[in-house]
Amino acid sequence: MSTPPIVRKAVIPAAGLGTRFLPATKAQAKEMLPVVDKPAIQYIVEEAVAAGIDDILIITGRSKRSIEDHFDRQFELEYHLDAAGKQSELTEVVALTELADIHFVRQGSPLGLGHAVSVARKHVGDNPFAVLLGDEFMATSSTLLPDMIQTYAQYGRSVMALQEVEPEEIRRYGCAKPERISDHLVQILDLVEKPEPAEAPSNLAVMGRYIFTPELFEKLEQVQPGVGGEIQLTDAIAMLLADQAVYGVTFEGGRYDTGTVPAYLQAIVELALERADLRPEFGAFLADVVQREGLV
Ligand code: UTP
Repeated sequence: MSTPPIVRKAVIPAAGLGTRFLPATKAQAKEMLPVVDKPAIQYIVEEAVAAGIDDILIITGRSKRSIEDHFDRQFELEYHLDAAGKQSELTEVVALTELADIHFVRQGSPLGLGHAVSVARKHVGDNPFAVLLGDEFMATSSTLLPDMIQTYAQYGRSVMALQEVEPEEIRRYGCAKPERISDHLVQILDLVEKPEPAEAPSNLAVMGRYIFTPELFEKLEQVQPGVGGEIQLTDAIAMLLADQAVYGVTFEGGRYDTGTVPAYLQAIVELALERADLRPEFGAFLADVVQREGLV
């Protein structure tokens, strides 16, 4: 086999309705909710850039203009920061517009994750590409995405991120039937969407990071819409499995989920505690709350 091309493109689907976060997401994107002092989607873009990706396509929809504005120059703000001598803030807001080549395309209506990925077809063309879901991101110490890119480089085939969950939890996720290759690598034999624990082929849940071969787009065209007219990404991957091997990289921790309120709150607390400038005061406050509320 010839050497597979390097993964340089990423797609970030961010056009969902975020109904689990209403009313916060009525007029603004879930992906723009701040985690400490950065919107969730900026962590994702930084994660992609750190893994060597320099071309990012964000799939947006209604109420999502703030995402485009966030990665664009804001000359009035820059002028005021400069005039006020706030040089480090100025450097930061300019630097974030230079992170990568960031493009946007609209998903006309939110017809599901599979549909969102399919609108990237023209931009991605005949190249391998990463998909990073817009409501979760990995800690900067995580090597998950680079490991997945490395696996693609080795096999030239699609790769999914898998994490072990409690057996009871598997009904909330796509679930993989694995064949073990090495410690953190499996070949995926089958995928089942949200199985009952008793029927689940494993407790390996599919998480929101993928590397795909461009053949995925052909499968997405063939997927029949399911409940609510949604085109499911899992269905397209299951079809791809019939033609090409698909691999899974397993990982243990370092994942932050901003798609639900409880997980979002956890992400904020954990990341705030990692910040040297916030930890002393915030940590003392938390310790006090824990004691006052009798939480331990
Ligand atoms: P989710 O299903 O978690 O997001 O999709 P959602 O639909 O916005 O959330 P709820 O269930 O209503 O609370 C995972 C990612 O895929 C994007 C979302 O924006 C999110 O980042 N997505 C989902 C799309 O871009 N288009 C869609 O049609 C569906």
